Amino acid sequence: MSFGELRGICVSYDKKNMILRNLDLDIHKGELLSLLGPSGCGKTTTLRVIAGLMGTCGGTFVLDGNDMTHVPVHKRGFGVVFQSYALFPHLTVKENIGFGLKMRKTDKEEAEKKIRAMAAICGIEEYLDRFPSQLSGGQRQRVALARALVIEPKILLLDEPLSNLDAQLRIQMRTTIKRIQQELGITTVFVTHDQEECFSISDRVAIMDNGRIVQCDSPENIYSHPVNEMIARFVGFGNFYKGDVYKNLGVEAPDASLCTIRPSDMRIGKSGQYKAEGKVEVRTYLGDSYQYEISL
Ligand SMILES: Nc1ncnc2c1ncn2[C@@H]1O[C@H](COP(=O)(O)OP(=O)(O)OP(=O)(O)O)[C@@H](O)[C@H]1O
Ligand SMILES: [Mg+2]
Repeated sequence: MSFGELRGICVSYDKKNMILRNLDLDIHKGELLSLLGPSGCGKTTTLRVIAGLMGTCGGTFVLDGNDMTHVPVHKRGFGVVFQSYALFPHLTVKENIGFGLKMRKTDKEEAEKKIRAMAAICGIEEYLDRFPSQLSGGQRQRVALARALVIEPKILLLDEPLSNLDAQLRIQMRTTIKRIQQELGITTVFVTHDQEECFSISDRVAIMDNGRIVQCDSPENIYSHPVNEMIARFVGFGNFYKGDVYKNLGVEAPDASLCTIRPSDMRIGKSGQYKAEGKVEVRTYLGDSYQYEISL
């Protein structure tokens, strides 16, 4: 039995269109699991179901042996950071981070200790007395993270928490998130539609399409063994060939197959030496390589 188990989850906003269709997902203890998929496939909806912000029309959610399906959001006690990190503008950084502790009526001295420790982990100790408007985007992001973590949640839920940051800060922050997540060993579900971001920090990736999980595996396995064309395209395969198997060299494949090969695994050379002859149509410069479009 996994730490977290979503089974047969169905969600519809209008009772006609199914947004999540019998979704199954396992969450392992201490892992960073990403939900990756095209816009509108249901990532945020799945996260809202886990958080308890969203009613379902079927299915169950069990966490750590407890049935959470009908537990209301405020009794789940999960840490949540959404895309717009909505800090309380009239509260200082310290008060923002301590908000959840105050709600839980944590002893003042105890709360102070926890806030300082979490601020140190997130690298924002020096801003404790500032207001959110006096911080940069990245600093606010870290405050939001500290606020979610300080209550020591069973699960941390992050919905595109880096989408408001510039490219450089995004990379810096995703490393920060990974470091904190590992340090605290906190089970995390991370939503993104950025493939590189997702593959770089995740222990496992669940690829979603049209309200379902299509493949859930380590980044390495998804990268080298995508289960269908959609995922293959997602992880950078661009050339697909329909073929019939006429000799099986030990690879498991149905008789009629869709074959694919990465551009980086092909070599270009003089004809005769190479297996397929073609004509270079377009060459584009990509910085560390060239991309050729070749008609065969
Ligand atoms: N409140 C709502 N009422 C009706 N339909 C909704 C509502 N919220 C979301 N949807 C629909 O549900 C589907 C899934 O939405 P969701 O927000 O889960 O997608 P997503 O994978 O998070 O996309 P993105 O990457 O753009 O954030 C979409 O087709 C969306 O239009
Ligand atoms: Mg979303």
